[in-house]
Amino acid sequence: AEPLRIALAGLGTVGAGVIRLVEANAALIARRAGRPIQIVAISARDRSKRRSVDITPYTWEDDMVILGERPDVDVVVELVGGSDGSALACARTTIEAGKALVTANKAMIAHHGLELASKAEVAKVPLKFEAAVAGGIPVIKGLREGAAANEFERVYGILNGTCNYILSTMEDTGRDFADVLAEAQAKGYAEADPAFDIEGTDAAHKLSILAAIAFGTAVDFRSVETTGITRILAADIAQARTLGYVIRLIGMSETDTNGDGVERLFQRVQPHLVPFDHPLAHVDGATNAVVAEGNFSGRLLFQGAGAGDGPTASAVVADLIDIARGEAGPAFSVPVEELVKMEAAH
Ligand code: HSE
Repeated sequence: AEPLRIALAGLGTVGAGVIRLVEANAALIARRAGRPIQIVAISARDRSKRRSVDITPYTWEDDMVILGERPDVDVVVELVGGSDGSALACARTTIEAGKALVTANKAMIAHHGLELASKAEVAKVPLKFEAAVAGGIPVIKGLREGAAANEFERVYGILNGTCNYILSTMEDTGRDFADVLAEAQAKGYAEADPAFDIEGTDAAHKLSILAAIAFGTAVDFRSVETTGITRILAADIAQARTLGYVIRLIGMSETDTNGDGVERLFQRVQPHLVPFDHPLAHVDGATNAVVAEGNFSGRLLFQGAGAGDGPTASAVVADLIDIARGEAGPAFSVPVEELVKMEAAH
């Protein structure tokens, strides 16, 4: 069968992970996808940077923005990061060229998800972003497809691996915030600018996407109220423990009428006291976990690695396999047309 020909934009932690995965599991992927997945071009800001994978077998393209315009490319995988700039330019060009886009870029989907989904619908190409939320956990697919028949009242969870690594390590060792942050950066969990992690912005990006999927609404990043973990001391964690709690950075989104009969979405990211007997209290390290309460499914708990090259690559390649099978599905959980209408009424 004809291979699915992909181009990679961005060769950081996740890009290197995708190359490793596509190479290591090539036969298995081809069998499941019904055809091979082949990397035909790669691009990144800095060609000569030292990387954990050998990139010399692949064709280099200097300008990542035009990867989608190459006639030998079917899908562009955008792993550059950042809500705007070259990531967004690359995404737009790709879709406008009539090519599928797979991205791990939560900031870009949080800010421009509706625009990109609209463009993708016009161009009739898939737009997929499983890797944007909760790393290796297939939570977008789980909520959008596996639990698609449910009404959700609430969706919440631990959405930033770096913060969870910091909080749980401070808890176990009594070590300093800064010291543990440096370790999370060395392990490849943190954002290029770790302020996005520790100030809660990254979790807010993911929460807004998750809420859009769970509630069938347009992504509304601007309304997320966000508090990070920068002011939490080892002493706060110790005090919480004496009361029977751990501290976790939780993103929570729920629909509420707030007494006036008008249904609204409340979205917040903040450090919470989590009682020892709650499942989220036992989520340690760079793990993420998402809880969604469906009116027929009951409480669903998704848990797994929320950051790092392998888990994130796993989600990216799952999207590619869907595309290879011709089973990409819609970008969000309701048709874009409807999201645009809701947005206009807003
Ligand atoms: N910096 C992010 C985190 C990476 O720590 O969760 C995964 O999106």
